[in-house]
Amino acid sequence: GKGNYRHFMEKELHEHPVVLGDTLRQYIDPASRAAALPSLPFDPATVPRLTLSACGSAYLAAQVGRYWLEQVARVPVDSDIASELRYRDPVLPEGGAAILVSQSGETADTLAALRLLRQLKQSVLSIVNVDESSMARESDGAVLTVAGPEIGVASTKAFTAQLAVLACLALGFGRARGVLSADEEARLTAALLEVPGHAATLLESNDEIMDLAKEITAARDVLFLGRGSLYPIALEGALKLKELSYIHAEGYAAGEMKHGPIALIDPAVPVIALCPSGPLFEKTASNLQEAAARGGRIMAFTDAEGAPALRRFAERVVVLPTVDPFVAPILHAIPVQLLAYHVAVMKGTDVDQPRNLAKAVTVE
Ligand code: M6R
Repeated sequence: GKGNYRHFMEKELHEHPVVLGDTLRQYIDPASRAAALPSLPFDPATVPRLTLSACGSAYLAAQVGRYWLEQVARVPVDSDIASELRYRDPVLPEGGAAILVSQSGETADTLAALRLLRQLKQSVLSIVNVDESSMARESDGAVLTVAGPEIGVASTKAFTAQLAVLACLALGFGRARGVLSADEEARLTAALLEVPGHAATLLESNDEIMDLAKEITAARDVLFLGRGSLYPIALEGALKLKELSYIHAEGYAAGEMKHGPIALIDPAVPVIALCPSGPLFEKTASNLQEAAARGGRIMAFTDAEGAPALRRFAERVVVLPTVDPFVAPILHAIPVQLLAYHVAVMKGTDVDQPRNLAKAVTVE
C-alpha cells in the first residue's frame, strides 16, 4: 500500500535514500572501498566496445552510464534507444559486449534489442529490477537494482538505482582496464556512499521545490538544460514533466542553445538548469547567462559553490548538497522528479497513472 503517502510516486520518491543505500552496498565493498561487481558474462579488461541500450528513463540512465564509462574506464561506448537499435542494422565487433537497462525487464523493444545483440554475437548484461523477468532470463548475465517494486508509472527510485549500478560498473571497468587507480576508486566509492544521506537531505528541503513548482504550473513550455552527465538528467527532467503534468518540456545540452532552441527564450518559457560546480560549470553558466540576457527566466539547481555566480542572473537558485561531480547526476535526478511530481499534484493530473501510459510497455 501507499502507507501515509498520497501517491505511490510520493512514497517511492521517499524511498530514494534506502534504495540507493541498498543498491550501493550491494556493489561496493566498504572495507576495500572498491566496486564489488558480480561475475560478468564478459571480461571488462578486454571488451573492445560496449553497446548500451534501453527505452525511456532507463535509456537516459544508460546515457549517464556512457559518460561515466568513457570518463573513468576509457571504454568505447555506443548508446541508442532500443527501438532504433533493433532496426538500425548496427555494425558491432565480434566479442563486443552490451548492457541493457530496464526496470521491468519486460519492455518489448529492449527485449528485442537484447535478442538481436545476442544474434550478433554480443555478450549481453542486463541491469534489471525484476530478477525473474524475460530480460534477466534471456541475458548472458544480469545485475539487479535493489529498488523493490515500483508501482508509479513514472520511474523514480528505479532510475536512481540504475544510475548507482552503472556508476559501480564504470568503476569496476576502470579498475579492470587499468585506468582507474585504487585511490581514485576509493575516493569515488566514498562519494557514492554519501549519496543516500544527501538524498535524505534533499527530500527534507521539499518546500523550495514546491515553490519552484508553483512557477511552472502555468507554463505551456519548459526547457531543461545541462551539460556532460547532467545533460541526460535534463532530458529526464523534461520527460518526467511531460509524462506527469502534460506540460510540453524539452531537454537540451546547454551548448546547443545557440544552434536553435535559444529562439524559444521568452519570459513565458521557464528554463530549468542543472548546473553543479565542477569542470563544466563556467560553460553552462555562460549559456544560462545568454538565455537570461534574452529575457529567459532561469531556475537553477546547483551547490553552494555554484550559487553566487548563478544568483547574479537567475530568478531562483536551489542549492543542493556539494558532491563530487562524478555523483552529481544521481543527486540532481531527485529534485527534477520532485518538481514534476509537485507540478502534477498542483495541476490535478493522475500522478500514478498518467494518461496513455503503461508501467511496462510490452508491445511494440
Ligand atoms: O521497465 P523499463 O525500465 O524498461 O521501462 C522503460 C520506460 O518505459 C520507462 O522508463 C518510462 O520511460 C517511464 N514511464 C519513465 O518515467
